[in-house]
Amino acid sequence: MIEIKDITKTYKTGDVEFQALRGVSFIIKDGEFVAIMGPSGSGKSTLMHILGALDNPTDGTYFLDGKDVSKLTDDELADIRKDKIGFVFQSFNLLPRTTVLRNVILPLIYDGINPNEREERAKKALVLAGLDEGHFLNLSNQLSGGQIQRVAIARALVNNPSLILADEPTGNLDSKTSEIVLGTFQKLNKELGRTIILITHEQDIAEHADRILFIKDGLLEHREPHIKRIAKN
Ligand SMILES: Nc1ncnc2c1ncn2[C@@H]1O[C@H](COP(=O)(O)OP(=O)(O)O)[C@@H](O)[C@H]1O
Ligand SMILES: [Mg+2]
Repeated sequence: MIEIKDITKTYKTGDVEFQALRGVSFIIKDGEFVAIMGPSGSGKSTLMHILGALDNPTDGTYFLDGKDVSKLTDDELADIRKDKIGFVFQSFNLLPRTTVLRNVILPLIYDGINPNEREERAKKALVLAGLDEGHFLNLSNQLSGGQIQRVAIARALVNNPSLILADEPTGNLDSKTSEIVLGTFQKLNKELGRTIILITHEQDIAEHADRILFIKDGLLEHREPHIKRIAKN
């Protein structure tokens, strides 16, 4: 479970300070699918970096599974990321001229998992992410945008994280491909119980989550609940 309380983040550039988060609090329970939605510059990525243990807040507390993440050292943050969190970003940073399978295996090499198990786990993650087996040995630069994003999702899943954080994962995709990727997240949430936090500036994307947290100028805004969209694919 995620519990953040009065989180603030101030960036300093020279003498100039900018408060990107101005006191954000919420709880996300295990197994929830939540979207964080807001316009560009509202603080979404800043919040995602904090939730993903990539950065510490300036003030406030963040409890992840009962542990106060806001007080951890860089090494301890790295362990939390490795054990609990899978990241999917908008810009698909797969290695070019490298097979799909190898791209998904890579994080496991850094984790010291043995070679046979690595391949098995990578294949399982690719199947879960909905990529056809026929593409496993393709080079990543031979794939379509939707296929690349599935590989990116597989790479986020390969460590078996309980929490998946996706920052604008459909930002570069057409609406049909976006639906397929959103369907994958809905399936991972519903069938495998993964907690998913989806960050987006688009209302129709956010509506695929069970709940939407609206953020503007570094603060949450209250809005009425929406009717959930089921991805067409
Ligand atoms: N490293 C940084 N240094 C200074 N300002 C930053 C930094 N990162 C983000 N900001 C500012 O903080 C605000 C929120 O940014 P961000 O969290 O990236 O918003 P979003 O993801 O919603 O577009 C923006 O005004 C941005 O310019
Ligand atoms: Mg952003």
